[in-house]
Amino acid sequence: MDEPFYPGGGVREYRGLIPTDGKESPHERQACLQQKLRAKLDELQAEVDKLKARARGAAVDTRIEREQDTDRLEAKPKPSAAVPAMMECPSSFFHQDYRFGSARPPMKRYERFADEIAELIRDGVLAPGERVPSVRQASREYGISPSTVFQAYYLLEDRGLILAKSRSGYYVREQARRVLHEPRMTPRRQEAADVAVSELAFSVLDSLQDTETVPFGSAFPSPDLFPLARLARSMAKALRGMSGSDVLKDMTAGDADLRRQIVLRYTLKGMPLPPKELVITNGAMEALNLGLQCATSPGDLVAIESPAFYASLQVLERLKLKAVEIPVHPREGIDLAVLADSLARLPIKACWFMSHLQNPLGASLDQEKKRALYALIKRYQVPLIEDDAYAELHFGTTPPRPVKQFDDDGLVIHCGSFSKCLAPGYRVGWLAGGRYAERLSRLKLMTTISPSVPAQAAIADYLQHGGYDRHLRRLRHALETQQGQMLAAASRFFPAETRATRPAGGYVLWFEFPERVDSLRLFRMALEQGISVAPGPIFSATQGFRHCLRLSYGHPWTPRSEAAMERLGELLDAF
Ligand SMILES: Cc1ncc(COP(=O)(O)O)c(C=O)c1O
Repeated sequence: MDEPFYPGGGVREYRGLIPTDGKESPHERQACLQQKLRAKLDELQAEVDKLKARARGAAVDTRIEREQDTDRLEAKPKPSAAVPAMMECPSSFFHQDYRFGSARPPMKRYERFADEIAELIRDGVLAPGERVPSVRQASREYGISPSTVFQAYYLLEDRGLILAKSRSGYYVREQARRVLHEPRMTPRRQEAADVAVSELAFSVLDSLQDTETVPFGSAFPSPDLFPLARLARSMAKALRGMSGSDVLKDMTAGDADLRRQIVLRYTLKGMPLPPKELVITNGAMEALNLGLQCATSPGDLVAIESPAFYASLQVLERLKLKAVEIPVHPREGIDLAVLADSLARLPIKACWFMSHLQNPLGASLDQEKKRALYALIKRYQVPLIEDDAYAELHFGTTPPRPVKQFDDDGLVIHCGSFSKCLAPGYRVGWLAGGRYAERLSRLKLMTTISPSVPAQAAIADYLQHGGYDRHLRRLRHALETQQGQMLAAASRFFPAETRATRPAGGYVLWFEFPERVDSLRLFRMALEQGISVAPGPIFSATQGFRHCLRLSYGHPWTPRSEAAMERLGELLDAF
């Protein structure tokens, strides 16, 4: 085992951006100002968006007027500031002591109320077509002002969950319906298994190269959802300002501005990160590879989820590791009782899990389960490689925190990326390596040395000046709306016994069909019809889940998507 990276063990010693003596450093003041500026820019941009929408005659017809005993709607343009910047930065915020990871960016009342209503819709308590509480009723019963209710309803409209009906009120959208049942929990396997999925995974991945297919098998959201033109401007600006010595200097440590921005985002989530822990990598994939390589030797046992992200299985295969598959509940995440039992019985050397928006199920552990998971790995001193590639793709307004938040012993290697939320193809990710950071940094220097320095600088510039949080809000709203559209189509076209997940984020759905359906055959049949899908067996070390399918709703919904779902339904009927 490596030397502990935290000399004190126990409570984390803070050596980074936020001092614990309550005084504001120039660094923090600058960060705070940057945040305020960003919030202001967001507001201005929202104003511009509104004016553009009005000019197109697309301003939403949503004036809500209270009228005697009934709430009625009439045209009132949605105010542009309805969804203000998420990361506001009151100066007192930076004076909090984060050592125990308890502080979070404050959540607005309207955001909390919107999340509560969204949950009622998700759980089916508020059914499609049903009217949500009137503004007056909600204001009275929740003890909030009518304008807070309006703001919450505007937000829910943006998220595709409700719609305003003129002179009538707000209603749950048809596409928000949960008609399909949740998939069942995966059965438990007893033994560690060798992994051999690469052949199958590569043949599936090859099929995704064809840009003519309907990309339901895709591993990335649509490039149309990303600010690529704005990023290109950041890239040009970064290159212009880069001296020869900058290029070389930043190759080993990583771009200094990018490092600061990543540390800042951890801090704003209430998780101060000692900058020494941070290693910039070629996407999350390199971070995850390095993590596993650092923690294991060939032949070792690694606990993974079942089903799991296929690339994690390929890494195990490449490093000649054996998989101990831990079942995952489709909504609540990994089965901790099975994990506890496996850790007690087997010499497991590392765990590789996604605690949030697990790929392919979309399951997320709640805070208590994350705490319990951390207690388990700490008890057995087994490192956790935490894949958090979808961290920014949550639909609710509160950013969830990873298991890393509890890491007072440096055991978690937390891996993140910009690939899924900002800059696909730039290949910039990172890891927060805990007690393994130094070793991981050296491993990286011995393999790829560094991700592209200009790509890092471009992302750093975008994070500082590009309106990242505004982009993220739009991306999340688009994905949530598209999820509803795909689920609505599935409930119309797929066989009645179909089960489907309904994750609170990300861009994939997991479908479970009756056992008679062979998803590998379905994959080939669909491809002949110009539709790509990801069949269940590529997510399993032992090629299970033959009757399951992962479909991506990461691309804007079109009549072609609708027709493809109908065609898939017809193919499914043939089994
Ligand atoms: C769950 C998960 N983790 C990690 C990655 C790899 O991310 P990156 O593109 O940053 O290497 C992916 C990409 O498909 C993913 O889906």
